[in-house]
Amino acid sequence: MIASCPIGVFDSGYGGLTVLREIRRRLPQYDYLYLGDNARAPYGTRSFDVVYKFTLEAVERLFALGCRLVILACNTASAKALRTIQQNDLPRIDPRRRVLGVIRPTVEELGRLSANGHIGLFGTPGTVRSHSYDMEIAKLYPAFTVKSQECPMWVPLVENREAGDPGADYFVRKYVDMLFDSDPMIDTVLLGCTHYPLLYGKIRDCVPASAKVVAQGDIVARSLEDYLRRHPDMAGRCSMGGTCRYLTTENPDKFGDMASLFLGDDVEAAHIDL
Ligand code: DGL
Repeated sequence: MIASCPIGVFDSGYGGLTVLREIRRRLPQYDYLYLGDNARAPYGTRSFDVVYKFTLEAVERLFALGCRLVILACNTASAKALRTIQQNDLPRIDPRRRVLGVIRPTVEELGRLSANGHIGLFGTPGTVRSHSYDMEIAKLYPAFTVKSQECPMWVPLVENREAGDPGADYFVRKYVDMLFDSDPMIDTVLLGCTHYPLLYGKIRDCVPASAKVVAQGDIVARSLEDYLRRHPDMAGRCSMGGTCRYLTTENPDKFGDMASLFLGDDVEAAHIDL
């Protein structure tokens, strides 16, 4: 049984769990429905049209399952699909429902985080090439400079459960060095992909100690808390049973094992086709 009006949390795969964990820590009273499109992950190397199509399918399914509010806990989907869904699809589907992303709340934090305005971004090729971060940062902090580094190997390492293995070290070191070669003055590094916190320890070890490494989970959780405070009508429509259910387009046992490992809790997932 799925709770009547859970908050939907969507990602291409496991990465959104890093956001869900922080959201549940901050807002444990709500019901949640997590959907990982693991069968079609990674999204980061897919074209704009495909990411938009897959994301819309997921959002529509979460709506059909009762969600009135869906968080795209995925930078690639936020970069390539969020705006079109908000502007073109929501008015047609149901203007009272909402879809929120992770890029804007993350960028809003930068003024507090960076002392010198030199920002580094790690992201999927899709996120980096969309220039969504550059555009948001230019709007809010025009004096800041941003250097972005695509990390096409990091999501496959996570999805294939290789993030903790020594083989991952090479690809972490490689992309960190490329980013800092492009701007040695970077003082704030954004993990602009929700999968990357699963590589946090390795990334932290390679990034110069003087630079902060910022994961998005808590930022997104605080932003959602603030959103619900400012929109009591929406908050009132989300059910509060404290439950969390997991759906995956892949094998549910495989998903459950990884999610349990990561969330430190027993997770039972169900299969869903989109
Ligand atoms: N976790 C996602 C992100 O934040 C997508 C990773 C992928 O599927 O490539 O970008």
